[in-house]
Amino acid sequence: MFGGVVRKLTRLFAVVLLLSSAVVVVVVPGSELRVRVRLADGLITEEVLEADSERDSISLEFKQGDGTLVTFVADFKQDVKIFRALILGELERGQNQYQALCFVTRLNRNEIIPSESMARLRQKNPQAIRLAEERRGLEQLTMSAAVNLSRAWQLSSHIHNMCSEAREAIYTREADVKYWLEKGVDGSMFEVLPQTTELPGLQPCHSAKDLWQPCLCTYNLRLEWYPCLLKYCRSRDSAGKGTSYKCGIKSCSKGYHFTYFVPQKQLCLWDEET
Ligand SMILES: *[C@@H]1O[C@H](CO)[C@@H](O)[C@H](O)[C@H]1NC(C)=O
Repeated sequence: MFGGVVRKLTRLFAVVLLLSSAVVVVVVPGSELRVRVRLADGLITEEVLEADSERDSISLEFKQGDGTLVTFVADFKQDVKIFRALILGELERGQNQYQALCFVTRLNRNEIIPSESMARLRQKNPQAIRLAEERRGLEQLTMSAAVNLSRAWQLSSHIHNMCSEAREAIYTREADVKYWLEKGVDGSMFEVLPQTTELPGLQPCHSAKDLWQPCLCTYNLRLEWYPCLLKYCRSRDSAGKGTSYKCGIKSCSKGYHFTYFVPQKQLCLWDEET
């Protein structure tokens, strides 16, 4: 009973974190933030950021100019992050309506702000087009292991929802697998995929000739805007003592370059143009 009251009070007096130099806005319940963001190709997209304090997670979703829906989830409970891309297929080339890809990897400390801070984030001017304050480089990720969807719940309760459409295309890094095994996660959910060393004929998909041959696919995505750090401001209390408090966020942009095995070049047709 007290829990409810305390929660209400905390909500009432919650510190509102603001984007840029805006003024305090009414704290509305619910924790969804819609931010207008300019993508690399100049297009403007609406990014939806959501915080789930109960599950201690953040999700971020936006549509790219080519129609691809990109979803990112940071699961702080399990220190796991999940990227999903729903790529529109080319029906005239015999592909499905869309193709789903899921990349699961370790969430490092301080990559993104905590979910409870995210839940308090508000913006004064929702129409403003936001540009990240810090543009981070492209991280290379070699996703050489597959994750079995029906066993992946142990790794993160979000994988099932996020990746059910990807099924045969849920990937992770071997270094992450090693780390999770050491933490006691059941190894039967992982399967190491063929590498260049084992299959000498394995080549990048863009240089593979046959649509049915296995190859190494690459996929790039960029989280164009996300709150990566909390900003602290200093103030003096009545006794003249200095204190610091959370007063905003720093925004970042970061690119990811995934390399992974596909059993058929057909599943990696975007690699042709690169
Ligand atoms: C994934 O796990 C399920 C349930 O444990 C099992 O039935 C299935 O064969 C596994 N799939 C693969 C590809 O190993």
